[in-house]
Amino acid sequence: MNKLIVSLLLTLGITGVAHAAGDATAGQAKAAVCGACHGPDGNSPAPNFPKLAGQGEKYLTKQMHDIKDGKRTVLEMTGLLTNLSDQDLADIAAYYASQAGSVGAADPKIVKRGEALFRGGDLAKGLPACTGCHSPDGSGNAAAGFPHLGGQHATYIAKQLTDFRKEDGGRANDGDAQTMRTIARKLSDEDIAAVSSYIQGLHK
Ligand code: HEC
Ligand code: HEC
Repeated sequence: MNKLIVSLLLTLGITGVAHAAGDATAGQAKAAVCGACHGPDGNSPAPNFPKLAGQGEKYLTKQMHDIKDGKRTVLEMTGLLTNLSDQDLADIAAYYASQAGSVGAADPKIVKRGEALFRGGDLAKGLPACTGCHSPDGSGNAAAGFPHLGGQHATYIAKQLTDFRKEDGGRANDGDAQTMRTIARKLSDEDIAAVSSYIQGLHK
């Protein structure tokens, strides 16, 4: 690219270098190996493998970089992202974001408690409502990188909340603000089971 165009693009802030735009069609081919666990269209059949279909592009890209760089440990994915470029990860994120996420069912015995927590938080514990960031229908906020949760497997959600809650060796890639770690530490085991079940059945 000639220098004049480069500086013009820099001025306009649209270089595309820092944030490569993803190509969903290219991403589908690159995600073939991922389908064994996450499902061909990103709707994983197994409760401990997260659904990626319908997840926000920004969130997906961040997680893949964190897993690749070892900031988030996923033993099952060891080595799988090593040879993928930034462009490959952007393409894969675009592909999964373009797919429709499936929805499960909540356990009727604990759904009420889960709904109350998700929608209202718990004032006495200083726990904010999940809706504030993950939206009332669980679709998250793609532009802000707040993940879509609605319809996700309860087993997977419960594991993440338990991992965020751990002081050591858990999931610690929620940034310096420790947003999710602070929230998860206010949740009891019963809270986690209830809110995870509610999320599994949550949809638009
Ligand atoms: C052998 C099974 C397996 C394969 C193959 C696999 N994954 Fe995963 N992946 C997992 C598991 C298990 C987790 C969740 C780990 C945990 O509990 O934190 C995960 C998590 C993720 C997440 C984070 C999801 C979220 O909601 O935070 C992304 C993104 C992801 N995988 C992308 C990929 C991509 C891209 C590929 C292919 C290059 C791939 N995975 C291949 C098992 C697999
Ligand atoms: C202030 C904003 C905020 C609030 C409130 C919030 N979250 Fe989050 N949550 C986030 C962000 C940001 C992430 C992504 C962290 C990262 O980058 O790894 C996240 C990630 C998660 C994840 C991991 C998703 C995945 O696919 O792995 C779960 C589960 C979750 N939140 C559940 C909850 C629940 C349940 C509540 C309410 C009790 C809640 N969150 C309240 C911002 C928030």
